[in-house]
Amino acid sequence: GAYYEIWLDGEKVISAEEHPDVKAARQRNTNGTIFPHNEEPIYGDRYMPRKFKCCVTVPGDNSVDLFSQDLTLVVITDEQGNLEGFNIYAGGGLGRTHNKEETFARLADEIGFVQAADVYEAVKAIVATQRDYGDRYNRRHARLKYLIHDWGVEKFKAKVEEYFGKPLEPFRPLPPWRYKDFLGWHPQGDGKFFYGLSIANGRILDRGNFKLKSALRKIVEEFQLPLRVTPHQNLLLCEVSPDQREAIQHILEEHGVRDVTALDPLERYSMACPALPTCGLAITESERAIPGVLERIRRLMNRLGLQNEHFVIRMTGCPNGCARPYLAELGFVGIVPDTYQVWLGGSPDQTRLAEVYMERLPLAELETALEPLLVFYRDRHQPGESFGDFCHRVGIPALRQFAANYVPSSAPKRYRVDVRADQYQQLKALAAAKGLSLAALTREAIQRYLEQARSTNQE
Ligand code: HEM
Ligand code: SF4
Repeated sequence: GAYYEIWLDGEKVISAEEHPDVKAARQRNTNGTIFPHNEEPIYGDRYMPRKFKCCVTVPGDNSVDLFSQDLTLVVITDEQGNLEGFNIYAGGGLGRTHNKEETFARLADEIGFVQAADVYEAVKAIVATQRDYGDRYNRRHARLKYLIHDWGVEKFKAKVEEYFGKPLEPFRPLPPWRYKDFLGWHPQGDGKFFYGLSIANGRILDRGNFKLKSALRKIVEEFQLPLRVTPHQNLLLCEVSPDQREAIQHILEEHGVRDVTALDPLERYSMACPALPTCGLAITESERAIPGVLERIRRLMNRLGLQNEHFVIRMTGCPNGCARPYLAELGFVGIVPDTYQVWLGGSPDQTRLAEVYMERLPLAELETALEPLLVFYRDRHQPGESFGDFCHRVGIPALRQFAANYVPSSAPKRYRVDVRADQYQQLKALAAAKGLSLAALTREAIQRYLEQARSTNQE
């Protein structure tokens, strides 16, 4: 019941009643899926063995990273658009622990199809299976993904069907999954519009001329729009009538909030978890480090002639995988301070697991590590092939071999400049705070100084 109440400053501000159908479905006792006389009929008197993540999507739309979820329902309609039922996936999950091979990221499997009228019973059957057979001894082994991994899909399905009381129908064919972020203006289909707003790493703030927080406050106060939070840490402003569009666009521009067309796609498709200083489990920086990392990768790509390319980059401060790095084309997973495991080979639409390419990359060596991979990709990818698909096709051993034999040909000549000790210390501290290498920060500082000097001269 706690999930149906939101308390703020000691007052209950939102309390939602369950839909009568949901309430009835929860209470219905099919084949032992519930504890009939318990206040919480499905859980009983204790929680599930571990977190249990669910999502719902429509065919072709993988904006929810469905392969990372414990349970996914895919809405299946007939040709007229009437709801027929749901395809079910189960057993995805990303959290793992470094150096413990028995913990791993896993993609969800296709389980079957259920008619719309049976969906509550099917979900209860899956939840009951994990509730009753999920591991309650070892927390690291308690997710549904391990139960399905240990049993295999067939045994899992058979147990679910016992609770469900009949066979699941065969999984319905689906079109390929695509990652969609719905940024910018889109018609809702009812005459109104919604606007997808990119929020870098989900952090809503005002900083300098960029006043995202103020813009959002103004929009919500003026138009009372419902907001949706997306799994990619963005926001959708919903229910916008055609005559409000211009005013909303104006508020965003006036507050320095960039339109999606002004975003570097590296940033648009990237994601980082909160990590330091918010998360007690963090080993490395993530949210605060990723802007500098993206900037450095973009600079490197520009130098290598890859200015028109982009791919999905995700970073986390520990192996729990909150920003889902194991599904990215290039994933960074914090392992020891300032050092990351590098994962490669996920797909642009998050339908394939990445693999470990490098166990420890100190962030200071980012360019040295990535340059060979990007050059290999630049020179050898097939037309239209993304970086992640390329890495997957050639395979980790070939990538490692290419990197080992790589001789940087295009490396610019390097020059040395002396700085005072106190300047050095300040630069070092600033570089650490920004997640940049000392060299990158110093180059940037000098560049800014030169630009300033040039514009002063021109004036
Ligand atoms: C800030 C403190 C946070 C803590 C302490 C935390 C903790 C964890 C832990 C322990 C896991 C591993 C779960 C397992 O293997 O069973 C995990 C996974 C995950 N978390 Fe977080 N998390 C935090 C923030 C977030 C945020 C802000 C998001 C979303 C924006 C998020 C999304 C996820 C996702 C997608 C996974 C991986 C999928 C999975 O294995 O279920 N987490 N988190
Ligand atoms: S992945 Fe990031 S947010 Fe999640 S637990 Fe690790 S450091 Fe914290």
